[in-house]
Amino acid sequence: MGVIQTEALTKRYGSSSGVAALDGLTIDVDAGVTGLVGANGAGKSTLIKILLGLLSPTSGDARVLGHDIRTEGEAIRTAVGYMPEHDCLPPDMRAIDFVVHMGQVSGLPAAAARERAADVLRHVGLAEERYRLMGGYSTGMKQRAKLAQALVHDPALIMLDEPTNGLDPAARDDMLALVRRIGHDFGIPVLVTSHLLGELERISDHVVVLDSGHLLRSEATQSFLGDTGVVLVEVIGDAAPDGTPAQARMGEALAARGVSCRARGALIEIDPDRRDGIPEEQAAAVHDALRDLVRDTAADLGLGLVRVQPQTGRLEDVFREEAAR
Ligand SMILES: Nc1ncnc2c1ncn2[C@@H]1O[C@H](COP(=O)(O)OP(=O)(O)OP(=O)(O)O)[C@@H](O)[C@H]1O
Ligand SMILES: [Mg+2]
Repeated sequence: MGVIQTEALTKRYGSSSGVAALDGLTIDVDAGVTGLVGANGAGKSTLIKILLGLLSPTSGDARVLGHDIRTEGEAIRTAVGYMPEHDCLPPDMRAIDFVVHMGQVSGLPAAAARERAADVLRHVGLAEERYRLMGGYSTGMKQRAKLAQALVHDPALIMLDEPTNGLDPAARDDMLALVRRIGHDFGIPVLVTSHLLGELERISDHVVVLDSGHLLRSEATQSFLGDTGVVLVEVIGDAAPDGTPAQARMGEALAARGVSCRARGALIEIDPDRRDGIPEEQAAAVHDALRDLVRDTAADLGLGLVRVQPQTGRLEDVFREEAAR
């Protein structure tokens, strides 16, 4: 079931002639982890605030868990967990008291709120630290406390606005692993934003790319990152007596054996096999046969095989492709 649908959502701040922060955005978000990617100012936070009913759109419609954002903001905020982008933690409160309070605000009875708060704080990795005042927290601890308050009432959907902001690489990996677990192990649908594409490709099932309020792409992560079918080969060894270098000798020999390939820098790029309609096991066999052929060809030429590897697409390439259009 879809959890979020937007229809031509547009938001202009201030005068109606101003630049649109969101411009006719139509997207569908399903269960699982959805990454919302865009540069600074792309409109990510604006979209989340509109979906929570905290900001009104200039035009267009949206539904979150079946609720209308214009008229049912309160129902949405009751059901959804929200981790805001900016620091929102009272410095003179202990995390445990803050998260209990947020649980009660979301409708949990006091005893249940205390129990859930202890659970979620432990879950996000603030076990001992939960008794300390949050004013003394590091950025990483603040991000964890923000995540805990978003989870305390067992939300039906969670929206995380730049949860990795300000984190060092290790803390970033921990946070991403947590987000992934929330989506996959706990089965809570997640909408998570970042301006770093590489982060979201690791944890998202689906990626929505925003650019200046416009939808650039909305696709399953697999279709960005799936095996492209292209195989890259690298060889080392002697040039032929006529001066043909090792890489060219290998390319020519592969071509003579019916393999479609070309030079790419120091590598040889082999075109994808036509595997359409071939069952998975047979496709693997085709791939193995190609590997064997490459290995035998290198051996026949007396060349060393440095690598034979499938090339996978990367989310970074999406922006490069779009920019080149
Ligand atoms: N309260 C506001 N008043 C006027 N303009 C705003 C306001 N909030 C956002 N904007 C503008 O709307 C556009 C989108 O901003 P938004 O904060 O939604 O982007 P973002 O993708 O979340 O960016 P970031 O990665 O920096 O958090 C920007 O051009 C921004 O300057
Ligand atoms: Mg933002």
